[in-house]
Amino acid sequence: MLMRITLTIFALAVVGLGQTIKTVPTKPTSPTSGKEMFNEYCAVCHGKDGQGGGPAATALKKKPADLTQLTVHNSGKFPDTRVARYIEGEDQLDAHGTRDMPIWGSIFKSMAGGSATTRMRVANLTDYIKSLQAAK
Ligand code: HEC
Repeated sequence: MLMRITLTIFALAVVGLGQTIKTVPTKPTSPTSGKEMFNEYCAVCHGKDGQGGGPAATALKKKPADLTQLTVHNSGKFPDTRVARYIEGEDQLDAHGTRDMPIWGSIFKSMAGGSATTRMRVANLTDYIKSLQAAK
């Protein structure tokens, strides 16, 4: 388990530097299951419950966002467009030039399925995060 987490972080770090990776050391997931993708790709940092306490969280400079509070922090409305763009990485690279979170759009595009599948992955992950929102 520890080994696998280490490998995952390494690969993600390479992506973060803008280099290409040939293999993704995570198991393939169904693009139709937001939950399966979340547990496989996101929980290592954000935690299975989405609250930001995954096993890799302490290795990061920045604490992973608590994904259960997005609706609360957006005046009671889940910010779906912003979340989807954030996952995909279109709003990436703020003024400081880097971000700790991987650019999932590029990783998903390197998997089988093409751009329609990438969009499906992002949409289903966004829906899953929506389902994790804390009650107001
Ligand atoms: C390597 C650790 C890591 C992984 C893996 C990761 N994230 Fe993140 N994520 C972060 C960090 C750290 C932040 C806080 C912002 C920043 O500095 O990047 C963040 C922020 C976010 C945000 C922005 C929340 C907001 O406040 O708007 C969303 C949405 C998100 N992550 C979704 C995901 C999804 C979906 C996945 C899996 C496909 C994922 N993350 C995988 C580390 C990670």
